[in-house]
Amino acid sequence: MSAKLIAGNWKMFKGPSETLAFFDRFEAPDGVDVVLCPPYVSLEAAVGEEWPIYAQNVHWAAEGAFTGEVSAAMLVELGVQGTLVGHSERRQFFGETDETVKQRAEAALDAGLAVIACVGETEAERESGETDAVLRRQVATLPRHDELVIAYEPVWAIGTGRTATPKLAQEAHALIKSCHPTRVLYGGSVKPENAEELLSQPDIDGALVGGASLDPYSFSTICRTAASLS
Ligand code: PGA
Repeated sequence: MSAKLIAGNWKMFKGPSETLAFFDRFEAPDGVDVVLCPPYVSLEAAVGEEWPIYAQNVHWAAEGAFTGEVSAAMLVELGVQGTLVGHSERRQFFGETDETVKQRAEAALDAGLAVIACVGETEAERESGETDAVLRRQVATLPRHDELVIAYEPVWAIGTGRTATPKLAQEAHALIKSCHPTRVLYGGSVKPENAEELLSQPDIDGALVGGASLDPYSFSTICRTAASLS
């Protein structure tokens, strides 16, 4: 079996000094692929460390009048190896659409960055039986590329403490892989206590971890669990 990929999404937490303090305490064994996604201002502090560092977003243009945005070339110059795109918080609060997510993913891949593209249904979409259609639509717009990984993050499970059951997550992962064969990570309230049962599912190839990646000990524990299952 190939190694699981565990990615930590710090969201808008940890400036450069907290970033360095995290790496003083974080450890991961062999047998797991680890990625950390700090905020833009902490990328430079993080790239000197042992693990691949990804941004949390990237713009599709090489440069231009796009206040507040960062290009793929700028990330590459800094030593960043990849980026998230399409996180549900970007879709919900910052107007990201399937089309902008696709453009961001393509620009990142063209520049040589790896991509973790996030998809997932809202609670209302799940309750009205639209989960499959939403996932198919979101996945269909993503470019096919060896360096693109998908993260399935049901919006109702993010930051809420409500995790998808392993069975429900497995079903969604199988659907996503039938549309787009690639590694698929699960995200949404992953923590040391539930990592093993989620990561044991046959189509769950890793995890995108928010809250529990902020604490170096919790994140180390999740990485150890993943290594033990590889
Ligand atoms: P959470 O966040 O682990 O805090 O639920 C996951 C994510 O949004 O990537």
